[in-house]
Amino acid sequence: MDNNARQTNAGSGGKLPQRDSFGSKLGIIAAAAGSAIGLGNIWKFPYITGIFGGGAFLVVYLVFILLIGVGVMLAEFLIGRMAQRNAVGSFRELKPNSPWQYVGWMGVIAAFMILAYYGVVAGWTLSYIFKAIMNAFEGLDPDGIGTLFNNSISEGLTPILWQIGFMAIVAWVVIAGVKDGIEKYSKILMPLLLVIIVILDIRAITLPGASAGLEFLFKPDFSKLTGDGILSALGHAFFSLSLGMGTMITYGSYIGKKENLGVTALQVSIADTLIALLAGIAIFPAVFAFGIATNSGPGLVFVTLPNVFQQMPGGYIFAIMFFVLLAVAALTSAISILEVVVAYFTEDLNISRKKATIISTVGITAAGVLTSLAQGPLAHVKVFGLNFFDLFDWITANLLLPLGGLFICLFVGWILSPQKVKDELSNNGEISIPYFGAFMIIMKIIAPAGIAVVFLHGIGMF
Ligand code: PHE
Repeated sequence: MDNNARQTNAGSGGKLPQRDSFGSKLGIIAAAAGSAIGLGNIWKFPYITGIFGGGAFLVVYLVFILLIGVGVMLAEFLIGRMAQRNAVGSFRELKPNSPWQYVGWMGVIAAFMILAYYGVVAGWTLSYIFKAIMNAFEGLDPDGIGTLFNNSISEGLTPILWQIGFMAIVAWVVIAGVKDGIEKYSKILMPLLLVIIVILDIRAITLPGASAGLEFLFKPDFSKLTGDGILSALGHAFFSLSLGMGTMITYGSYIGKKENLGVTALQVSIADTLIALLAGIAIFPAVFAFGIATNSGPGLVFVTLPNVFQQMPGGYIFAIMFFVLLAVAALTSAISILEVVVAYFTEDLNISRKKATIISTVGITAAGVLTSLAQGPLAHVKVFGLNFFDLFDWITANLLLPLGGLFICLFVGWILSPQKVKDELSNNGEISIPYFGAFMIIMKIIAPAGIAVVFLHGIGMF
C-alpha cells in the first residue's frame, strides 16, 4: 500500500482523500478473501445447513455461488474500480442525480446491522479462546459442553463485554490504518486455519459413526427443501462472499488497473467455498458421532468442536489455535464491514476517519447489545416472530443483501454502457475476457430473475 496515500487518507478532514490501493496481487486476494472468509464459513454455514436439512441445501447453495455469486462479485469489483469511490459514491459517480445511490445506502444500513450481531458472535469466539486456555471443556460430555455454551452466551453482561472487546479491536485497526499489516499476517494465518480445519476433518471423519454425517452433508434429499431454505441458501451465498452491500465495491476501488478482475473474483469465490465445505466436513461427522442435534442453531460449531478436541491428541493446543484463528478470520471480515460505513462517512459526509470510525462503532455495538441480550434476558422480545438476533440476520441476509445484489446486477446489465463494462473488465483490451457474453446475460436476466423468484417464493408469495 502506498504510504503517502495512507497518510493523506488518515488525516483527511475536508478534501476528497486520495485512495489507498493494494500493493500486490496477493494483497488483493488476501484482503478480498479475508473479507469473504469468516464466521460465515465456519460458524454460520454449518448451522444453517443443519437447520435446512443438509445435502439439498448444500447443492442449492453451490448453484447460487456459481450462477449468481461469482458474477455479482465481479460486478462489484468492476463498479468500484471504475468509479474509484465507496459504495454510495460509486453509484453517484457512475449515474449522477439518480436514485441508484440508494443501493449504496442500503448497503451501509446492511453493513451496520450485520456488524451489530457479527461482533456478538466474534465475542463468543474470543471467550472460547479463553475457555480453551482454561481447559474448560475437559471432562465434559456433549450435554455438558452444550450447557456451557448456552450459559456463556445468555448470562447478560459477560458476552457483551467480549463483544465490546472485539469491536474495540476492529475500530482500532480501522483507525490506525494497520489493515495492510493485518493482511500481511492473515496471508500466513489463513493458510494455517486451513491446515487446522483439514486436521479436524481427518479426526472427525475417523470418529465412530461419522459416515452418517457425511451422508447428511453430501446426500441431497430434495424433499427437505423449503422456500425458506432456498432463500436462506441465496442469502448465505451473498453473506459468505461479502456481496450485496458494497464491501467488494469498496475493495474494488482499491484494486489496481492492471489486475484481472474476473480471475480474482473466481479465486476468491473458490477459496471461500472450499473453507465452508471443509468446515462442514469437520462438523457433521462429529455432530452424528456425538449425538448432537443437526438443527441446534447458532451453537452448533461451539458445541461440536470442543467434543472433537477432546478426542484428539494435542486437542488442548488445537482448540486454542482454532479459536484464535477463527477470531482472526472474523476480524478481517469485520474490518471490511466497518470499512463500508466508514468510507461512506469520510468520503461523502466529510467526517474525519477517526471520528467516523468511533461514531459508527459505538452505534453498531449498541445495536449489537440488543442481539446479544436476545440470547438470554431479551429472548422473549420478538419482532415479526423473531428475536433481535434472528431479526438482524434475516433482514440483512435474506432481504437487504439479495436486494442489493439484484440492483447491482441491473446496474451493470442495463445502466452502464456495455462498452465501458467491457473496457473495465478487459483492462482496455489488454486481457481477453471470453466470459463477457455469459457475464452480461447473467447480469441482465439470469441473476435478477433468479433473485426475484427465490425471494418471492421464500416469503410465500407463490
Ligand atoms: N463474508 C463474511 C463471512 O463470511 C461476512 C461479511 C458479510 C463480510 C458481508 C462483509 C460483508 O464471515
